[in-house]
Amino acid sequence: MSNYHIKHLEEYYQVYRKSTRNPEGFWEEIAEEHFVWRKKWDNVLHWDFKKPEVKWFDGAKLNITENCIDRHLPTRGDKTAILFEPNDPTEKPEHITYRQLHKRVSKMAYVLKEKGIQKGDRVCIYLPMIPELAIALLACARIGAIHSVVFAGFSANALSTRINDSDCKMVITSDGSYRGAKTIDLKGIVDKALEDCPSVETVLVVKRIGSEIHMKKNRDYWIQPLLNEAYGDLVAEIMDAEDPLFILYTSGSTGKPKGMVHTCGGYMVYTAYTFKNIFQYKEDDVFWCTADIGWITGHSYILYGPLANGATTVMFEGVPSYPDFGRFWEIVEKHKVNQFYTAPTAIRALAKENLDFVEKYDLSSLKVLGSVGEPINEEAWHWYNNNVGKKHSPIVDTWWQTETGGIMISPIPYVTPTTPTYATLPFIGIQPALMDEEGKEIQGNQVDGRLCIKFPWPSMARTIWGDHDRYRDTYFSAYENKYFTGDGAHRDAVGYYRITGRVDDVIIVSGHNLGTAPIEDSINEHPAVAESAIVGFPHDVKGNALYGYVMLKETGESRDRDNVRKEINQQITEQIGPIAKLDKIQFVSGLPKTRSGKIMRRILRKIASKETSNLGDTSTLLNPEVVDEIMENVL
Ligand code: WTA
Repeated sequence: MSNYHIKHLEEYYQVYRKSTRNPEGFWEEIAEEHFVWRKKWDNVLHWDFKKPEVKWFDGAKLNITENCIDRHLPTRGDKTAILFEPNDPTEKPEHITYRQLHKRVSKMAYVLKEKGIQKGDRVCIYLPMIPELAIALLACARIGAIHSVVFAGFSANALSTRINDSDCKMVITSDGSYRGAKTIDLKGIVDKALEDCPSVETVLVVKRIGSEIHMKKNRDYWIQPLLNEAYGDLVAEIMDAEDPLFILYTSGSTGKPKGMVHTCGGYMVYTAYTFKNIFQYKEDDVFWCTADIGWITGHSYILYGPLANGATTVMFEGVPSYPDFGRFWEIVEKHKVNQFYTAPTAIRALAKENLDFVEKYDLSSLKVLGSVGEPINEEAWHWYNNNVGKKHSPIVDTWWQTETGGIMISPIPYVTPTTPTYATLPFIGIQPALMDEEGKEIQGNQVDGRLCIKFPWPSMARTIWGDHDRYRDTYFSAYENKYFTGDGAHRDAVGYYRITGRVDDVIIVSGHNLGTAPIEDSINEHPAVAESAIVGFPHDVKGNALYGYVMLKETGESRDRDNVRKEINQQITEQIGPIAKLDKIQFVSGLPKTRSGKIMRRILRKIASKETSNLGDTSTLLNPEVVDEIMENVL
């Protein structure tokens, strides 16, 4: 019997040892006993981190939707698969059973096929958090189309970049979306994006807000009439375990976003297994992850992981502050949520509000609390533990990445004793290493280093869409034979890991990864700007906020500074999205540079964070005099 459900600490250590001594045997047992395959694999694992090439369950045939839907029909047909909670609390929630989900996914898949989508085609999904979003992903998976979800808060420009990078043939969107008291014109954004996307042949539009929109002839179709005509029992396409399941874009420290490619077999096995254990999911539990499906957290832990376990998963359309700051807790009470998974930035925002918003509601159903996306600070951890968990729901601080597909370092609740701000122990099968700057692995405990992973795990991304060299250079070239995460970490006396944050030029703002380069590129396009540099500085709700140092051109010096600030943020909003706006913009006469011309961000970061007592050596700078000027005028 495989160890699918770990229940105590000794068992964790025993299974962990088994999974690292004989990873292939371990994952083979899990895959064999807990999933349905049309054909078994020829090989459990083939890997070479030099190329890099990783294949799990190669030769196996399956369809992930048969695992997430069809196989539950005999035993869980009438169980709620997706529990949809609308933005407006007075609108009725929708309980979609596994049987209904099967029908709706089949119909959507049928429509995609009718509109010419075939196995391997890319479909861009740009939808709010409504049931059709989940159904669209599953419909793609059903016919073997590769979904590329773009978070519906991204701008037209960001959307078209992503559509073009993977040559999507279709876009699925809605007329608009609700976000608290506001509505957003999603279709308008899509229309703008598509001015520049020659690969898109068809746009399917879900009606959500009932606004007047423009429909382009022979390109745009309302989806409902097509669904009404569609066939409700579409047989799933048989896929290879290593066929791509989806592309999801993440920010890099330089240049354009990276389309991380995840494949069918390994991703399914690992997300399902982590979901079961890290949330200790039991048959009748109601699980709620507050992320948006536009991020990896939503892909893995709203959709695929829960459904592969036959779980009930909540999808929430709204925001934590609407109609008031009690909304999350109202939903927990209403649906008797058992596992609640959110981000530190949400916790910090709610912790600022009156405690009445939490105390009003009955939260006694909660058994496990989760955190993801950025380091959770001690204060937020305690607030979450005291006021939401009432000190009896363990907090799982889960560290992972878009690239890793599933949770990598995390406590197992009721199994691993937790410590505030520590992601604690590597999950089953995960072999972390801390590296020093010379590239040597640091042994022992009470040490700090750069976090790498030494051995493949089933849900790791296989490549960057269209750019395998970049995949190798970004993740496999810093340290020989290791996957480099881009994060720093501390390992304490008992071997627990604490993630200390990015060591590259990615800044995490409200849990969203932002690369400095695309933001700087956007600022530099402003006609008055000569050059700029972005750094993060601590912010009590967002974790980090963005600080921009901007040098104007001589011709721009006479411009009104406040206007330039506004225009810069306007430009960033249009090109990337409002999440990348700068909180502070300081105008400078120069940027500190090394003799090789590289901007010394380390110094700028310290100044923005007001940690100027120890700036380090500035004598190697080309222009040390600008440092004093920048410090004097810091905002
Ligand atoms: C950060 C989100 C500390 C980290 C699933 C990582 C965290 C990046 C944690 C990936 C955590 C995520 N503690 N830091 N529990 N979880 N991070 O790709 O810097 O959106 O590299 O994936 O978020 O962000 P991504």
